Amino acid sequence: MTANPDMQTLMNRYGIVGRNEALREALATAVLVAPTDLSVLIQGESGVGKEVIPRVIHDHSKRRGKTYIAINCGSIPEGTIDSELFGHEKGAFTSAIGEHEGYFGAADGGTLFLDEVGELPMSTQARLLRVLETGEYLRVGSSTPRKTNARIVAATNVDIPNAIKQGRFREDLYYRLCTINIKIPPLRDRQGDAVLLFKKFALDTAQRYNIPEPIRLTPEAEAVVNSYKWPGNIRQLRNITEQMSILSESRSITPEMLAKHGITPNSDADTGMVALAGSSRSGTQHDYEQEIKILAHAVFELRSEVQELKEKLQRGEPWHEQAGTTMPVPINTQKASPMAHSYHSLPEGRSAQPLDMDIPTAEEIVDDDTLNIGNMEKRNILLALQRNHYRRKLAAEELGISERTLYRKIKAYGIDE
Ligand SMILES: Nc1ncnc2c1ncn2[C@@H]1O[C@H](COP(=O)(O)OP(=O)(O)OP(=O)(O)O)[C@@H](O)[C@H]1O
Ligand SMILES: [Mg+2]
Repeated sequence: MTANPDMQTLMNRYGIVGRNEALREALATAVLVAPTDLSVLIQGESGVGKEVIPRVIHDHSKRRGKTYIAINCGSIPEGTIDSELFGHEKGAFTSAIGEHEGYFGAADGGTLFLDEVGELPMSTQARLLRVLETGEYLRVGSSTPRKTNARIVAATNVDIPNAIKQGRFREDLYYRLCTINIKIPPLRDRQGDAVLLFKKFALDTAQRYNIPEPIRLTPEAEAVVNSYKWPGNIRQLRNITEQMSILSESRSITPEMLAKHGITPNSDADTGMVALAGSSRSGTQHDYEQEIKILAHAVFELRSEVQELKEKLQRGEPWHEQAGTTMPVPINTQKASPMAHSYHSLPEGRSAQPLDMDIPTAEEIVDDDTLNIGNMEKRNILLALQRNHYRRKLAAEELGISERTLYRKIKAYGIDE
């Protein structure tokens, strides 16, 4: 481990865990280039932790007091992306009632993080190249160039050289974007970090849900976590740790329990042959017990939120939930439930708080009319993401929707990947 106290302080500040040298070098590069205005391209597989880098760059630059805007290029519909990025004039198109500044204008003097830049349509790439080269852009429906002094940081999990070969990404834009190239290594190349991250996420989840004792790995399970390839990287590890923290009866996690989540030693997950929680990729076999557990987890979270809301209202505090984002679920809390065993085996003296909110049975879930089409869709999305190790591209393929649509639905349903 690098004995650099500054690096450790930086990592603590951003909640980054890991001893891997390449990860620490990536962070050091971010800090080093921050004071310059050079554009930076962050590359790495899905779930490796790219999103923290632009924030580190902004916070360590002279722009830190100015606007920081992060946008996901993959989540904006193709039809509106130019106007969202570059703004539009009044009447530029049918629904353009007023003028719109656009992100490039709004981030003037600050930093604009273009996440999933590999998803930009070719026409938008041409506009982006022009801004990068001249600092000028045109609003949609205008021929008057505007200046912007936004520092651009971009990220992608797409293999851009390959996208260039396929004619999906402009080569000139690629070279312009990656004046500084920061590569974040996949988790499988960070020997020992998976176990450290497991411990962090187990602790975080315990704190978040008032679980008195975080889960821990047996030495044999540690070896499994270390040798597994983690195709969905840290996002996959975090989600599995959270699920096990909430749903596992025992606080001690064994290799057998990991295997139920598809985490097996030396598995070649990229072949798609991993028995992910009993589900097959083809979707012909389903482990309904596992699906119900995931659904129960979602309901459990919803009920925690409702409980919190109730307490707030009782204390006379205001609440600011966006209308329509969450629905109070009137589930009968009196009935005993086989799904509610998760905390029953906790040692004596441990807080029983989560028990106050028993997780409903499968029958209760099915009977509940809040499981409307929207909820079912959210559930299907969650399951598809899980089956595909949180790789959105594969999940979108399985669901038969475009990646862009999946991004939008993830946002709309507030799915915390
Ligand atoms: N080293 C780390 N320590 C702690 N948490 C991490 C670390 N790296 C990533 N994470 C967490 O893992 C999750 C996934 O990271 P992030 O969203 O940055 O992935 P990404 O590289 O942007 O993936 P994608 O390309 O799919 O968008 C986030 O919740 C992030 O906070
Ligand atoms: Mg990301």
